[in-house]
Amino acid sequence: MRQLSASHVRRLLPDVPPFGPAYQSLAASLRVLVLDGRLPLGTRLPAERELARALGVSRTTTSAAYRLLRQEGYLHSRRGAGSFASFPSDVSVADPSWLGGEAAGDLIDLSIAAPGPIREPFLAAAADAVEQLPRYLAGDGYRVLGLPELREAVAEHYRRRGLATSVDEVMITSGAQGAIALASQVLVSPGATVLVESPTYPNAVDSFRAGSARLVTVPIGDGWDEELIEAAFRQTLPRLAYFTPDFQNPTGRLMRSSARTALARAATAVDTLVIADESYLGLSLDGSLPDAEPLAVHAPERVISIGGLSKSAWGGLRIGWLRAAPSLIQRLGAARPSMDIANPVLEQLVALRLLDGHEALLRERRRRLAAQLEVLTSALAAELPAWTFARPEGGLSLWIAIDRSSTSLMGAAARAGVRIVPGPRFGIDGTLERFLRLPFVLPPARLREAVARLVEAAEDVPRFADAAGEVSYVV
Ligand SMILES: Cc1ncc(COP(=O)(O)O)c(C=O)c1O
Repeated sequence: MRQLSASHVRRLLPDVPPFGPAYQSLAASLRVLVLDGRLPLGTRLPAERELARALGVSRTTTSAAYRLLRQEGYLHSRRGAGSFASFPSDVSVADPSWLGGEAAGDLIDLSIAAPGPIREPFLAAAADAVEQLPRYLAGDGYRVLGLPELREAVAEHYRRRGLATSVDEVMITSGAQGAIALASQVLVSPGATVLVESPTYPNAVDSFRAGSARLVTVPIGDGWDEELIEAAFRQTLPRLAYFTPDFQNPTGRLMRSSARTALARAATAVDTLVIADESYLGLSLDGSLPDAEPLAVHAPERVISIGGLSKSAWGGLRIGWLRAAPSLIQRLGAARPSMDIANPVLEQLVALRLLDGHEALLRERRRRLAAQLEVLTSALAAELPAWTFARPEGGLSLWIAIDRSSTSLMGAAARAGVRIVPGPRFGIDGTLERFLRLPFVLPPARLREAVARLVEAAEDVPRFADAAGEVSYVV
């Protein structure tokens, strides 16, 4: 069971302008933390008295806020045991009214940075896979490390990128997230230090948290700072580090070769294993950028490379992979049956076909993304000029510095019919309130409509008094 101290809750509480009675503001902020996962379900909240002391408010305020959240179902209390974050049974996360307001029209979901499939090549690969399937029907079909043919195709993908790789260094996983969760389960023991970027990909953070890791961060501003990376490793001595060097989620930055060298050197010096999540590989949106070498080239035994087909092909395929030293692959394979045993054979056959034509698939994906990025950036520049961003070098989303609380905006956006994820979900400690990630994976007309709805939502949220013109990209 997780338990949060009062000072931790104080740090997590979003920096939103107060409204109405103090207990209602406090309840609203705590509700958002439960809804967006910063207060995971089942987490024990501090006692009313402790929270009141930490926040400098009266005990009556915290009592009333907890009472309201209990009535709404966001908290349940057990006598003698405390109060725990929960979800109302009648609220569905898929329901846009879960923030209390009615969605205007049909919901536009900008909370997920994953594109739909490119239909033709996908359907052709699926048809081909069905044709191949009879050859695979002998035996039980469980391949804990994946189909040997697909593992070999993935090994070849690394060799083409200049990283010698044999089939026993590769396993197939349930998407890149399956690889992260498995690595976390095997490598993170309670209290182990895990170094992550800030901002970073929230589901990876949740996997490390599930293993009761102690999380520490290295900031990513306009790219990676080599000195900061080296200091972070030296000062925190992490057991594991998680980086997304290829078009970072959410900033869309590409790590330069000198930073890759520095990162590998820093990790080696303090004996840290590094997960390099290459989920966005091949999605460069800047034609002048040279290809980057795999991080693992700089420390083949120390880097666990993760990749997959969710961003180039389709997340619904659930095919990812992990490359590591053979001994680690064996350990991960031994641990996998407790999670999901193996991938479906048919989907692996589809993946094998898709990898065959991967370059063409990526070209088409890049073409669509570039057009969508153009639409989103033009609409934002025209409609919300105070929101600033650096053009992403690749990937699927914009990381935007906004002029008001992104947590408050989330509620107003839900009422206007757009689902967004506020900036703090991409951090670990409640900061990043002035940031918002907007993916550009939807068709142009939906993106334009989404910006129009965000304009409407922003009208309901007060500006930070000192924000205009002073928002820094560096976090
Ligand atoms: C950095 C990163 N890693 C992993 C994933 C999960 O990918 P998959 O669908 O392959 O599990 C995502 C999806 O958004 C991501 O952004």
